[in-house]
Amino acid sequence: MVDIKNLVVIGVGQMGMGAAQVALMAGFNVTLVDIKDEYVDKAYAGIDAGMKKLEAKGAFQGKTAADFMANCKKSTDIASAMKDADLMIEAVVEDMDVKKKVFKTCDDNAPAHCILASNTSTMSITEIGSVTNRQDKVIGMHFFNPVILMRCVEVIYGEKSSDESVNAGMEFAGKLPCLKGERYIAKVLKDGPGFIVNRITAPVQIYQNYVFDKAEAEGKTWEQLDNDSPGGAMPTCVLADFVGIDTLFHGQNYYAKTLSPDFAPGKVVTKMFNEGILGAKTGKGFYDWSKGRPKPDRKAGKARLYKLKYPLAIMLNEGCRVLEEGIATSWKVCDDALMAGMNMPGPMKPNLNNSEKQVEVLNELVELTGKKYFEPCELLKSGKWVEME
Ligand SMILES: NC(=O)c1ccc[n+]([C@@H]2O[C@H](COP(=O)([O-])OP(=O)(O)OC[C@H]3O[C@@H](n4cnc5c(N)ncnc54)[C@H](O)[C@@H]3O)[C@@H](O)[C@H]2O)c1
Repeated sequence: MVDIKNLVVIGVGQMGMGAAQVALMAGFNVTLVDIKDEYVDKAYAGIDAGMKKLEAKGAFQGKTAADFMANCKKSTDIASAMKDADLMIEAVVEDMDVKKKVFKTCDDNAPAHCILASNTSTMSITEIGSVTNRQDKVIGMHFFNPVILMRCVEVIYGEKSSDESVNAGMEFAGKLPCLKGERYIAKVLKDGPGFIVNRITAPVQIYQNYVFDKAEAEGKTWEQLDNDSPGGAMPTCVLADFVGIDTLFHGQNYYAKTLSPDFAPGKVVTKMFNEGILGAKTGKGFYDWSKGRPKPDRKAGKARLYKLKYPLAIMLNEGCRVLEEGIATSWKVCDDALMAGMNMPGPMKPNLNNSEKQVEVLNELVELTGKKYFEPCELLKSGKWVEME
C-alpha cells in the first residue's frame, strides 16, 4: 500500500482548510493550493489561528502550533505542487468541469503512485476520474463540515477504483484527529449521487420544496412554517438559509439530472436563487441575517404544513435504496454515518418494526404531493432490509 507522507489539498476554502488542518495535526506534510495567493494566505492564516487556539487549550501534548505549521507549504501552481505528492484531496467548487481540469493537471504532474481524491458532496467520482490515466487511483474522500468536529469521512469507490487505493484512503482518513471523538470512516461501495449521508437526506428537499411553495401559495409566513418544526433542531427555513439557497439550487438540479426530475428546485427556491437571495452568506434569505441567526417567534403561530412524519419516512425509504443499490450493505452504516456526519439520528434503527406503517406514510405522501420519487422502494416494501445489519 502507498506510504502517504505528502498531501496536497487543492481548493482551500471552507472544506479544504479543514482537511488540511487535521492532516497537519496528524503529522502529514501538507501543501495548500488555490487560484490566488490571497486565498492561500487566508487559508494558511485560518489554519494557523485554529492551531494556536488548540495549543492554548492544551490540545497538543508536547508540541506547538508552530511545529505543525512548519510542515505546511503554500502554492498557486498545481503542476509543481504535485511533483512529490502521495495523496491529493480536491475541494474546489462543486462544478464538474472545474474538478475535471484539476484532476487532469494533477494526473499529468503527480508521481505514478499518487492517489487522487475528491471531496465532492454529490458528483460522480467515476466521471471526475475519467480524465486521468490512473482511474484505479481515483477515489472519493468526502468530509463533513466542520471537518475538525464532524467525525465522518466517506471513502468512495469510483467504478474503476482499486481496493488498494480505497483502503489507503480509509487508512489515511482514520489517522485524522477529530475533536468530537474517533473518526468514523464509511466505506461507500458504489459511486452514486450523494453517496450515503447526503443521499439519505437529499429527497427531504423535494418535500421541503413542496412545503415552501404551498406556504407561499397559502399566504403563510416563513416564521409560521418554521414553527411547525419541533424545538431543538434548526427549523426548515433557517436551515435552508444556513446551508445556502445556491447550494440547495445546484444540488437539487444535479439530483434532478441523476436521480429523478422530482428533485428540480421549486418556485420559491428558484426565485430566491435568481434574485441572489442566498441566505446567511448574503445576509438575506427566508430571513434577515444581518443581526445573526434568526429565531422564529413562537407567537406567530403555526402554518400546519410541515409534518415531521414525512421526512422520517422519506429518509428510511432512501436508506433502503442505498442498500438496494449496493452503495452500502448494512443499515447500521447508514445510521452511523448520519450520526457521525450530521449529528442526526439515522432513520433505520427506529423503524426496524415499522416498515409497513412507513410504506403507508409514503403512499400518502405520493398522493399529497404527486411526487413519484416518494413511492416506497421494493426493499422497504419487502421488509427484508431489516436483515441487512
Ligand atoms: N461546505 C460544505 O458543507 C461541504 C461539505 C462537504 C463537501 N463539500 C464540497 O467541498 C468542495 C468545496 O466546498 P467549500 O464549501 O469548501 O467551497 P469554498 O467555496 O469555501 O472553497 C472552494 C475553494 O476552491 C477554490 N478553487 C476554485 N477553483 C479552483 C481551481 N481551479 N484550483 C484551485 N482552487 C480552486 C476557490 O478559490 C475556493 O477557495 C465542494 O465540492 C463541495 O461540494 C462542501
